[in-house]
Amino acid sequence: LLTGGAVAVGGTLAAGVAITAARPHDPGVRPEPVPAALVGSAVEPFHGARQSGVTTEPQAHAAFVAFTLKPGTDRAALGRMLRLLSDDAARLTQGRPSLADTEPELGLLPARLTVTFGFGPGLYAAAGRADRRPASVAELPAFRVDRLQPRWSGGDLLLQVCADDPLTVAHAQRVLVKDSRPFATVRWVQRGFRRAAGAEPGRTQRNLFGQLDGTANPQPGAPADTAVWVTDGPDWLRDSTTLVVRRISMNLETWDLLGRTDREVAVGRRLDTGAPLTGAAEHDEPDFAALGPDGLTVIPDFSHLTRARVTDDRQKILRRPYNYDGTPTADGHADSGLIFAAYQADIGRQFLPIQRRLAERDLLNEWTTPIGSAVFAVPPGCPEGGWIGERVLA
Ligand code: HEM
Repeated sequence: LLTGGAVAVGGTLAAGVAITAARPHDPGVRPEPVPAALVGSAVEPFHGARQSGVTTEPQAHAAFVAFTLKPGTDRAALGRMLRLLSDDAARLTQGRPSLADTEPELGLLPARLTVTFGFGPGLYAAAGRADRRPASVAELPAFRVDRLQPRWSGGDLLLQVCADDPLTVAHAQRVLVKDSRPFATVRWVQRGFRRAAGAEPGRTQRNLFGQLDGTANPQPGAPADTAVWVTDGPDWLRDSTTLVVRRISMNLETWDLLGRTDREVAVGRRLDTGAPLTGAAEHDEPDFAALGPDGLTVIPDFSHLTRARVTDDRQKILRRPYNYDGTPTADGHADSGLIFAAYQADIGRQFLPIQRRLAERDLLNEWTTPIGSAVFAVPPGCPEGGWIGERVLA
């Protein structure tokens, strides 16, 4: 029985252990175990020192919703907005409809819903709290690979809404957007997906190039903790993290033209198992020095794996990407890619050096193009009765 913590639906299903479910309309009662098959009833905590939706086992569906604050949304108005949105999130994530929910039946199945709040640079300015903006939460420098479009970039406030059920995501998004209307306008929404809950329990997900994507992520526990979370400092900073959201288009048409070997060489890993080209299993350590019969390194120096590699656990980033798949053009060309979402304690120390190396040289660049970019601070969580951002704005 897992209580009060993250519920890994996939692993839990495999292990046949009971998971917890919310009891709609019964806030005072602790969650009770339910049969593992009820993915829809599984809950993630909302209240706590740290926000959910970061180290939470990624749910199958996501909506990244970015807002622009309206002129006049000052610190007091932000406080009202964030109180309201925190209350919505606290209810919906626990399987209870929001206050005055117009479709209360849609609030009853949380399916591990999480709502993660991110603050863009503009929010700190609007709140008169520029002094509390983590220094690395600022627009990223331009990279030569970038073809950024304003329609996928920037934002004062981000709500990352994730759940194992797409109807739950849609309803939560609707409630949160409606309650934001007096204070902010919708800037962009990016919807993404991974494998369905329970489809491949405990396995690394695949992106639309067919690659296993997420293998080298920091593992849960101590190393991931220090890489992702700010563990000291003033209370508006401690237990916070930062988020980079890049919309990266993947050119499936030109990727289709490649043979299997070229595809594997571009990343440095095999497509079937995800093993490094020098190994046999997904989690084998790559050997960057191993030479092939031609005298060249087996894993090319310009492969994505070589260029993105970080060995120091504290400098790693936690990638939590979602696939997107839009409407193909009339002649059948795909509009596919990755909503690349990376969490790290410090963007400047962790994300930027990797992104610089990749922009400079990475075989994968031939088939991928960043078309959107945004950065957010993810403030600490809140206790019951509190609201997200309270410590930042106080
Ligand atoms: C590893 C795909 C963009 C950082 C990987 C792997 C794949 C992959 C297949 C190997 C398996 C794994 O460890 O997950 C892609 C695709 C991208 C993309 C398709 C764009 C559409 C990026 C970006 C960054 C990044 C923008 C950061 C700026 C990393 C890191 C690793 C990695 C840190 C792990 C390297 C290691 O083994 O230490 N990526 N990636 N990737 N990628 Fe990417």
